Amino acid sequence: NGYFTYDPGFVSTAACESKITYIDGDKGVLLHGGYPIEQLAEHSDYLETCYLLLYGALPDAEQKDKFVSKVRMHTMVNDQMSTFFKGFRRDAHPMAIMCGVVGALSAFYHDSLDIKDEKHREISAIRLIAKMPTLAAMTYKYTIGQPFMYPQNHLSYSENFLHMMFGNPCEQDKVNPVLAKAMDKVFLLHADHEQNASTSTVRLAGSTGANPFACISAGIAALWGPSHGGANEAVLDMLSEIGDASRIDEFVARAKDKDDPFRLMGFGHRVYKNFDPRAKVMKQAADEVLAELGLENDPLLAIAKRLEQIALEDQYFIDRKLYPNVDFYSGIILKAIGIPTSMFTVIFALGRTPGWIAHWNEMISGSYRIGRPRQLYTGPAQRDFVPLDKR
Ligand code: CMC
Repeated sequence: NGYFTYDPGFVSTAACESKITYIDGDKGVLLHGGYPIEQLAEHSDYLETCYLLLYGALPDAEQKDKFVSKVRMHTMVNDQMSTFFKGFRRDAHPMAIMCGVVGALSAFYHDSLDIKDEKHREISAIRLIAKMPTLAAMTYKYTIGQPFMYPQNHLSYSENFLHMMFGNPCEQDKVNPVLAKAMDKVFLLHADHEQNASTSTVRLAGSTGANPFACISAGIAALWGPSHGGANEAVLDMLSEIGDASRIDEFVARAKDKDDPFRLMGFGHRVYKNFDPRAKVMKQAADEVLAELGLENDPLLAIAKRLEQIALEDQYFIDRKLYPNVDFYSGIILKAIGIPTSMFTVIFALGRTPGWIAHWNEMISGSYRIGRPRQLYTGPAQRDFVPLDKR
């Protein structure tokens, strides 16, 4: 009507200003605080990258130590949480549980939920980063009927996560450092990606003044869908469904058929019309982990490699600039680490938490208005009510 623009899917609408992450989708560039993701993946680690996203600069040694110690201090969750978990069915999807338990954190910290108080915002950010691995691992343990494992604060962030996932109270577990390093890289590569659907959801929820735990829970819900974070799970499901290299052509043909809703999971991206730089790093990390574990001949991985090759050479995918995205390779690494498929999207949520919280904090600490999109109304024109006996 001339007062606002129509932009379904927000393809060309900038909803905010942000200093956190820069993407050039045509060139395949991703920078956090100005640093290329490739350099961060090679030289930094997940917690240091969390610091960069939250504070806008890399920490010096003392700042890093302090930050890591603060995160360590908050790894445990309130013991009543274990009672809350017991309300869920054991066969619930882990993302269903995560939406609930992360939102429930707001019920434990009402003494520090004043979003206008910088210190309250900071402690909420630390709590979320520290407790996500604990909650994620508890979710897994609950669904398989094993006891929850307490965090071990002498371990690194990723070692601790693997310990809580795969350790048990009867055995002295030792976390494989190669797997912990790969896990750290997966978290780091997911840490932020500017205004994607889940981050935009966190901002929209946050713009109403909702507390950070509730906002992150909204982000987790948005991430769950197969077009977003759920794609890593969908990739592995798809590879299992293909089952044999001889069936790849059939699935590629289905992906190209406009009458078939099927899409090749792990291909395409709204912003990247070139190779996703995270996918390149993830692919290399996947190769390293597989070699280290002697899994190069895994049949699903053979299908993945062949599929990647076919899609990269196929005119349909070339014309639409559909490259393998980060989720195509992350699923392969996670499978090699031993993470069950149903937990893949939880891993994405865990990794993305600093990005969500950094964007929420950036918005709340600046000036913002409640997010309130308009619409093009296409329903009936005004008409008079018809009584029931006359319809
Ligand atoms: N397989 C087959 N065709 C595809 C695919 C695919 N994976 N992705 C897009 N297309 C086609 C689509 O049919 C359309 O073709 P046409 O122009 O002939 O109608 C064209 O490519 C453009 O697609 P679009 O739906 O307009 O693109 P979009 O920007 O709205 O969607 C996407 C982006 C990621 C949702 C989509 O590529 C997709 O569904 N990919 C599979 C799911 C996936 O891997 N998602 C993870 C994204 S990366 C991780 C994250 O950030 O969450």
